[in-house]
Amino acid sequence: MVLFVCYGNICRSPIAEFVFRDMVAKAGLSDSIECASCATSADHLGDGVDPRSERVLAKHGISCAGKTARRITRGDFGNYDYIIGMDRRNLEYIRTLAPSPDCCRMGMLMEYAGGGEVADPWYTGDFDRAYDDIERGCRGLLHAIIAERGCGR
Ligand code: 4NP
Repeated sequence: MVLFVCYGNICRSPIAEFVFRDMVAKAGLSDSIECASCATSADHLGDGVDPRSERVLAKHGISCAGKTARRITRGDFGNYDYIIGMDRRNLEYIRTLAPSPDCCRMGMLMEYAGGGEVADPWYTGDFDRAYDDIERGCRGLLHAIIAERGCGR
């Protein structure tokens, strides 16, 4: 199980959640790989996905209907195998909250696609760029999970 994390849980991590879920479904792995997304901040708790993220997802045929922002909790560390931030600040926050350094895999999404951060479109306004980066990161992450299992399931 994978938990995607960003600052507000309204722009980047919901894109990651819905893109990754779509990829997993297309790979026929929905029964064994689940995912969700959450925020480090309390700024947008209960808010729906930012309309600009919703639009870029829709452009790629993916719906995010019903998603509302929630904040990461300590309990998440017992429930997820991978807790994946979009940028360094997200990852620092995740590590601060973690009960131990080896309780689960903690990292940044772009580590699975050559490195770097997912630039925050809340500030850059570039939701297409964020989508493309997230899509590459999710593809790399899915391949890594499949490789780790040693087979398709
Ligand atoms: P996200 O983007 O972390 O990708 O959801 C942001 C959303 C809201 C804010 C910052 C980033 N904000 O400052 O309210």
